Formats: sequence, structure tokens, C-alpha cells
Amino acid sequence: MANFEGKTALIFGIANHNSVAWPITQKLAEQGARLALTYQERMEQNVRKLAATLPGSPLVLPCDVQKDEDLDAVFDTVGKDLGGLDILIHSVAYAPTDDLRGRVSHSSRAGFLTALDISAYSLIAMGKRAEPLMQPRGGGSIVAMTYLGAERVVPGYNLMGIAKAALEASIRYLAWDLGPAGIRVNGISAGPMRTLSARGVGNINDMFTLIEQVAPLRRNMSQDDVADLALFLCSEQARNLTGSIEHLDSGFHIMGLGTM
Ligand SMILES: NC(=O)c1ccc[n+]([C@@H]2O[C@H](COP(=O)([O-])OP(=O)(O)OC[C@H]3O[C@@H](n4cnc5c(N)ncnc54)[C@H](O)[C@@H]3O)[C@@H](O)[C@H]2O)c1
Repeated sequence: MANFEGKTALIFGIANHNSVAWPITQKLAEQGARLALTYQERMEQNVRKLAATLPGSPLVLPCDVQKDEDLDAVFDTVGKDLGGLDILIHSVAYAPTDDLRGRVSHSSRAGFLTALDISAYSLIAMGKRAEPLMQPRGGGSIVAMTYLGAERVVPGYNLMGIAKAALEASIRYLAWDLGPAGIRVNGISAGPMRTLSARGVGNINDMFTLIEQVAPLRRNMSQDDVADLALFLCSEQARNLTGSIEHLDSGFHIMGLGTM
């Protein structure tokens, strides 16, 4: 396993202990990284309690990714208190429930803009602010969470799929844009996992069953599996890997037909 001693990491998207970002945070801390965690206002208590269980007294900072001033404050503090940045984890997504559950053709303009702002533009906003903190350290690694609904139609994923398509394109364009600064940008396209956000997606239970029936490995994955891949993507072993979307879904994405 990689060793992150002397590295600094900034993590967006912990809501509770089931969040995809949480085991990534735990593993980075266990391997010696100095951390800054951010929280959306309503998650503060949860995030502070979780942060208190980590070694090394991580920074815990408020951030609504829709607010430029919040993002500015987070990156300023990370620059001052951690002295620079090596790793950034983007594990943030949102679409208004009505737009997520309703017909795609009935998506509201406001819902579309909110979903794209929180779930995709936020990565661009973070990339801009990460560059001056990562470049002096020889570069860095940015990892964002995505889902197959960006590439294929997954009924029930709806507006989120459109937002994830924008996120995946942003990963590729940022990889090109930030590459000369030594910054790598990759995505993990994970299969379904039980988290707070996943509850908003229709028929999530059917998705678990389908993976067990159809995916080549016939099993679902866990947040812990995502963390292992995220740590690899952040490590020196992945030094020439950028602009990629890695599927972590027991092979489900290669299938053309469901059950027969
Ligand atoms: N759970 C799954 O099945 C699954 C599968 C593939 C990809 N993902 C992706 O993983 C990522 C994390 O989701 P999760 O499943 O861990 O759910 P989660 O609810 O635990 O995490 C989502 C996070 O987004 C944050 N967030 C939403 N709006 C925000 C805002 N305006 N400002 C700051 N933070 C905001 C929430 O506070 C929360 O911490 C998301 O990008 C999600 O799409 C999840």
C-alpha cells in the first residue's frame, strides 16, 4: 500500500460514516496524510464527530460548493495551515428530488442549473483553486466520483446522469488543462452503494439485485473498495494516469444485456 507521509489532502463530500468519501479519508489519515475536511452546513456535527476519530487533528472547514467565497476561504486556509496541497477528493453531488424523480423532459431550468453547479462546475472551481497550491509541490492528484448513468441511460438516475456526463467531460478537460502543472485528474465510476445520496435515486434496491445477477463478478461493491482505488489514483504508482474514468462496478459496465 502507498504511503502518504508528508502529503496533504483536501476532502469534499463527507455527510456521515456511510459516505463514499469517509473511508478514503480514514485510509489517507492512516497512511500519514495531513487532512482538511469540509462540510456542508447541515452536516457539521456529523463531520466534526468523525474528524475527532482521526489521527493528526485534521482541519474541519465549512463549504457550500455553490459559494465562491466558501471555496476561496477553504483553499486559503489549506494553503496557510497545511502549506500546500497534494490530493483533492471531490465526492459531492446533488439534484433536486423533483427533478431526479420526475421525467427528464420535465426537468426544471432551476433544477438543471443547481444539479450541474453542485455536481460538475464545483470540480472546475476546485481545480482552479488547487493549481496554485499543487504546482509548487510538483503537481498533485484530483479524484472525483461518478456513475455509469453519465454514459448510459439508467432509468431513475435522470438529471444526475446529465450532471455526471458534464462532470466526466470536466475531468478530461481539466486533465488536459492542469497536466502541464503536474496535476492528474481522474474519476471513479462506482456501482451503487447505500449512502444518504443514493436514497434519492429511484429503484436503488433493484440496482443491487441486478449487479448480483448480471455483473461478471456477481457481487456489489463497497465504499471501502472505492477508497482502495482512490488511494491508488492518488499514489505515485498512478503517476502517468490522468483523464481516466475507472469503472469499479464488478464489470457491470461491459454488459450489453441484462438477465436472459
Ligand atoms: N452511493 C452511490 O451509489 C454512488 C455511486 C457512484 C457515485 N457516487 C458518487 O459519490 C459521491 C458521494 O456521494 P455519496 O453516495 O457518498 O453520498 P453522500 O450523501 O454521503 O455524499 C454526498 C455529499 O455531497 C455533499 N453536498 C451536496 N451539496 C453540496 C453543496 N452545495 N456544498 C457542499 N457539499 C454538498 C453532501 O453534503 C454530502 O456530503 C457523489 O458524487 C455521488 O454521485 C455515489
